[in-house]
Amino acid sequence: MKKKKIVLQNLSGEVTGRTPVWLMRQAGRYLPEYRKVRSRFNSFIDFCLHPEAVLEVSLQPLNRFDLDAVIIFSDILMVPYALGLEVNFVENVGPVVQKADSNSVIDGLVYQPEQVMNISQAIKAVCSELDNNFKQKTLIGFAGSPWTVAAYMVEGTLSKTMETVRGFAQKEEELFRNLIKKIELATIEFLKLQINAGVEVIKLFDSWAGVLTPSEFKKWSLEPNKRIVDEIKRSFPHIKVIGFPRNVGFNVFDYVSEVGVDCLAVDQFSDLANIRGKVKNVALQGNLDNILLAYSRKEIKNSVTEIVKTMKGYPFIFNLGHGVLPITPIENIELLVNVIRELEE
Ligand code: CP3
Repeated sequence: MKKKKIVLQNLSGEVTGRTPVWLMRQAGRYLPEYRKVRSRFNSFIDFCLHPEAVLEVSLQPLNRFDLDAVIIFSDILMVPYALGLEVNFVENVGPVVQKADSNSVIDGLVYQPEQVMNISQAIKAVCSELDNNFKQKTLIGFAGSPWTVAAYMVEGTLSKTMETVRGFAQKEEELFRNLIKKIELATIEFLKLQINAGVEVIKLFDSWAGVLTPSEFKKWSLEPNKRIVDEIKRSFPHIKVIGFPRNVGFNVFDYVSEVGVDCLAVDQFSDLANIRGKVKNVALQGNLDNILLAYSRKEIKNSVTEIVKTMKGYPFIFNLGHGVLPITPIENIELLVNVIRELEE
């Protein structure tokens, strides 16, 4: 009989003896082999649309570490790109997106599936590699949540306060609502493309949900995320969904009860023991501090042990509270995985 994959078991609420682990940004600049492939492309978008390059970098972390899942190498800004906007990644600046902050630009946004079709090819290639050589590894697809994607589309680039997009959403609420709706529908299409190509789990990144007031959080995070999850579950009832409303404090409880995710990804600012005691029928994922992982090698063993012990007996997937930082020493990740595996023996 085929053995069910460990990540899928935990996402189904089963408690297993093993702690599955994968890491946000596990394929990234901290790996020299990633930087080598990256250097072949001027444009990050071209890189994300090159099936062989995506296959290669998606699997790179598996060749080094005993991880339980692969996340397809892509970016949340593929959705604005598929909506017809120009998207660039500028070194030392970050993403630069053509702004969608006027009626005419927002009206003109049309999802063009051919723009991202190569991702389907890349996913199929990763799936067949996993089927042949890594049978127990789960393939995760993803998208940004509408608010987080809209933030980049209105700000045009990274912003700490998100003042421009919040001001726009307040002053031009109907226009902003149209923008959120367009992103929501495109995100559903983009996720369906990934599921049809073979991803087994999807993750919704609401990385900037933490800047919203409670009423904004309801309108721009809870409601669009819920509509996306409802539609994915309606079309693909077997697909598991992980939600990551980052930095939202106590709002995680409304997120869990209203959005309908199978798993809550927890950031490093929340206490897993506290959340564990207050949520029902949801797996948890998280939440080692990515800065501790990069800078405090001597703290890794204690922190990882504490997380694993806290979550013993609960459906849980080990991860970081946010992505692996480019300066993270590879040995620190080896240590993290070894500590988890030793605790299982
Ligand atoms: O390994 C993985 O996690 C899969 C790939 C992945 C990337 N981006 C690759 C990437 C995933 C899941 C993302 C998600 C993503 N992208 C988010 C949500 C998660 C989060 O971090 O909060 C966000 C907000 C983005 C937008 C984005 N993409 C930013 C802000 C940046 C620049 C910052 C940075 O780290 O450079 C990117 C670029 C990006 N996406 C890189 C990678 C590996 C680095 C670019 C490079 O290699 O030149």
